[in-house]
Amino acid sequence: MRIDIITVLPELLRSPFEASILKRAIEADLVEVHFHNLRDYTTDNYKSIDDTQFGGGAGMVMSIEPIDKCITKLKEARTYDEVIYMTPDGETLNQGIANHLSLKQNIIILCGHYKGVDQRVRDLFITKEISIGDYVLSGGELGAAVLCDAIIRLIPGVLGNETSALTDSFQDNLLAPPIYTKPRSYKGLDVPEVLLTGHAANIDKWREDQAYKRTKERRPDLLDD
Ligand code: ADE
Repeated sequence: MRIDIITVLPELLRSPFEASILKRAIEADLVEVHFHNLRDYTTDNYKSIDDTQFGGGAGMVMSIEPIDKCITKLKEARTYDEVIYMTPDGETLNQGIANHLSLKQNIIILCGHYKGVDQRVRDLFITKEISIGDYVLSGGELGAAVLCDAIIRLIPGVLGNETSALTDSFQDNLLAPPIYTKPRSYKGLDVPEVLLTGHAANIDKWREDQAYKRTKERRPDLLDD
């Protein structure tokens, strides 16, 4: 998979890709991530990427020209499955969207700033708009990093244990059950007896029951779906 991220703040985006699972995925050639600084696609001396709003109003709007130049150049080299715009008014990211995107070959992610992009960018280029939650960030970069993490860990071969992504919370619309490691007893809190029995079927049943109980308590909306 190849991910091209268009941003005015590439420096804000680099570190999540330089550690742990994402770094390993890149080193193993399971994913390529490229950053494109929007200012490199400007033509004026000030390298401006935004302008005031038509109709008045506070806040700057990201202009279409540099974004068009950058996306057009990328599309000349290969075809893209999705051109995603990170925005608080997009579809809220969930595990289903991450699963869907993890199967794609090439995607572009455009990070918004200020008030956002000129509507014509969305009309002309964007195939999917994603929000990471009902709050407003200063820009799309942190959202793009969250999205990339959620996608990349699902690419086959990225996680050491192939089954571990399958037992994540949300993977079957249930939250994950409680988990324990050594010691067996800590400050009066004991590991549930069933986990020590080695009885696989009973353990599976316990985990299933706990996942259901936890989901019912914390996220009953997931059970309605
Ligand atoms: N840009 C600003 N806020 C955002 C959010 N909640 N999700 C994605 N991109 C954003």
